[in-house]
Amino acid sequence: VTLFVPRDAASLALGAEKVASAIAAEIAGRGLDARIVRNGSRGMFWLEPLVEIRTDHGRVAYGPVKAGDVKSLFDAGFLTGADHPLCMGLTKDIPFLRQQTRLTFSRCGVTDPLSIEDYRHYQGLRGLEKAISLTQAEIVQEVTDSGLRGRGGAGFPTGIKWKTVMEAAGPQKYIVCNADEGDSATFADRMIMEGDPFVLIEGMAIAGIATGATKGYIYTRSEYPHAIASMGKAIEIARAAGILSSSVLGSKHSFDMEVRSGAGAYVCGEETALLNSLEGKRGVVRAKPPLPALKGFLGRPTVVNNVISLASIPVIMDRGAPFYRDFGMGRSRGTIPIQIAGNVKYGGLYETAFGLTLGEIVDHIGGGTATGRPVKAVQVGGPLGAYFPRALFDTPFDYEAFAARDGLIGHAGITVFDDTADLMKQARFAMEFCAIESCAKCTPCRIGSTRGVETVDRIARGIEPEKNKALLADLCNTMKFGSLCALGGFTPYPVMSAMTHFPEDFAPVPMVEA
Ligand code: NAI
Ligand code: SF4
Repeated sequence: VTLFVPRDAASLALGAEKVASAIAAEIAGRGLDARIVRNGSRGMFWLEPLVEIRTDHGRVAYGPVKAGDVKSLFDAGFLTGADHPLCMGLTKDIPFLRQQTRLTFSRCGVTDPLSIEDYRHYQGLRGLEKAISLTQAEIVQEVTDSGLRGRGGAGFPTGIKWKTVMEAAGPQKYIVCNADEGDSATFADRMIMEGDPFVLIEGMAIAGIATGATKGYIYTRSEYPHAIASMGKAIEIARAAGILSSSVLGSKHSFDMEVRSGAGAYVCGEETALLNSLEGKRGVVRAKPPLPALKGFLGRPTVVNNVISLASIPVIMDRGAPFYRDFGMGRSRGTIPIQIAGNVKYGGLYETAFGLTLGEIVDHIGGGTATGRPVKAVQVGGPLGAYFPRALFDTPFDYEAFAARDGLIGHAGITVFDDTADLMKQARFAMEFCAIESCAKCTPCRIGSTRGVETVDRIARGIEPEKNKALLADLCNTMKFGSLCALGGFTPYPVMSAMTHFPEDFAPVPMVEA
């Protein structure tokens, strides 16, 4: 019998290690013949730790399992998939999972993350094998035709970025994977690195072959120790398997990579600050141009792509651009792993084609708030994303549709708030966050964010509220158009959306006379 107990950081935080130990003890104590595989997470966090048993009918899920439940599970005969109050039935039939389109996350939670045999068995390495049979220009064309856009947040066409690097001249080129996942409510990058690290290695190797880069770096944060460990081991295994070598899978191409971890400054997720940090310098933003595609790591042509962009490449190469492009709407093609978090009943990762409305995601998939109170606001796109009220719940998940409503989908993290949330406090938090995380290179962000906190405080205290609201809007305008990077430039989104959609929260509280 094979059991699956996740080793994903979220599952571990919820007690998966104790559950795995309790299961191992029961197996030994009862003298059973069973093997425990430590898989990634399926992304249904309200069910974690989710234990699965492989049966003839498919995998049967039990969750959320606590160590104290393990004895009763064995007593009920769960190794045969028997019924138990924690039994969720067949994993594939759980509605949250069944309704998804898992292309990038097809193996996450399914395979043993460090088994190259598993990886091959579940269609792994086919994309790389295909890429090896093509010319550089053909690979880049395939990626361009797929419609894939940067999943880190900006949505820049990946194929065009690769073409710039492919055509750039230079004795050495690099692939840098931006795994500095800093947005609140986001965990897709981490889940891939822990649950299916080979897909990222494969995607980076394909990027290297396509652009002529022979060295790759995964830049992640020290707060991701499990991801760092799993990626490190996977890289060693990939080297031993000839995937990362001077002759990738026996071809004429050479590619190798390593993991680097930063200290966790939010701004180091900005690509040029990331490159500075990777070079051992302070994580300060560089002015663009020159683009990293032309002068990136150590001044060489560099592809900087997010984890999900790179992890989507293997399936595109394997199944072909038309297959991938067929999903989605408008100029947002393919699938996107939506990360549902905050005050929500069913939090987790939901990979689906672009186009679902925000209301469908929050109310139907997320099941509304965990507190059972009405949803007041949803912040989409991390701490720099806009707060959307229910009135905008018809907005489809699409880069352009969100931009048209002064929002952004960013790295596709959404945070749900119930009616007890105070959006003025959230606006203050956005300015404060920017003040703390600012790299201090440019004035609108460095000084504007601190003045922003003070201005929100004055509104809250009822000091000339109308004048200060106008001042805050003016300040946001200056930050939006005058900042050097997205940190200062996008902080106005949460602030302005809070003021625009929730004006009642900005009504001054009358001052009590002394
Ligand atoms: P950007 O629009 O300046 O650039 C997007 C990408 O396209 C960059 O890699 C840039 O170098 C590249 N590019 C632009 N023109 C090019 C050309 N002609 N040839 C080749 N490459 C070209 O956006 P930026 O500042 O890189 O990212 C901002 C986004 O980051 C925001 O939308 C935000 O959602 C997201 N973000 C994500 C976070 C996360 O944790 N994933 C955290 C904070 C922000
Ligand atoms: Fe640095 Fe802020 Fe300017 Fe970005 S906007 S360069 S984080 S000071």
